[in-house]
Amino acid sequence: MKKTILYTPRLLLRPWEVSDTEDLYRYASDPEVGPIAGWAPHKNLQESARILISILQRPETFALCLKTDGKAIGSIALHLKGDTDMTNRRDECEMGYWLGKPFWGQGIMPEAVKEMLRHAFVDCHMRRVWIGYYEGNDKSRRVQEKCGFIFHHKSENLEVKQLNEIRTGYVNSMTREDWEKLCGFDN
Ligand SMILES: CC(C)(COP(=O)(O)OP(=O)(O)OC[C@H]1O[C@@H](n2cnc3c(N)ncnc32)[C@H](O)[C@@H]1OP(=O)(O)O)[C@@H](O)C(=O)NCCC(=O)NCCS
Repeated sequence: MKKTILYTPRLLLRPWEVSDTEDLYRYASDPEVGPIAGWAPHKNLQESARILISILQRPETFALCLKTDGKAIGSIALHLKGDTDMTNRRDECEMGYWLGKPFWGQGIMPEAVKEMLRHAFVDCHMRRVWIGYYEGNDKSRRVQEKCGFIFHHKSENLEVKQLNEIRTGYVNSMTREDWEKLCGFDN
């Protein structure tokens, strides 16, 4: 199968490899990373290895790496029909992401999201990209605002199965036409 690698000025986005397991565990075991996004911190290396193979090696899921050393510091994905509850259409998808805490606050995720939007609309021929965040996740809200996503609706009583919680979610989206108008995404 063709291996897609995406580039931005500071980052490369490439498929997850089994050799990323230790880096995955380092960042995904942090209780400040997963729970706010709806998943539990990884408990041990074995769990990270299992999640890497079963979830992160799916199509259109990328290890987010700094070009300087190529090591995985986060993840970004397009969840396609069947892997998202935001759409049933083949030409729509949901974007999801997380980043290791030592790298927060440098605009890394907005840089990755903008390239993933290009990839979604140009390479994957999507017509709409959905994205969401749970109430209180201001960091993710800001990423989505800065990248030009537009508020679509609020969802009450969302079941977060892994954490056995009920939360409120905010759903944003970007259409291909919205993206074309943004012309470079500079905010
Ligand atoms: C959301 C996340 C991906 C943001 O990535 P990032 O590369 O740090 O994004 P930015 O640098 O643009 O920062 C976004 C906002 O986070 C806040 N922030 C940045 N660094 C921070 C830090 N060290 N501590 C607390 N908040 C911080 C700022 O409010 C910033 O907004 P601003 O541009 O208005 O100042 C990252 O915080 C993360 O992985 N969080 C946990 C998982 C998660 O929430 N995933 C998304 C689920 S919807």
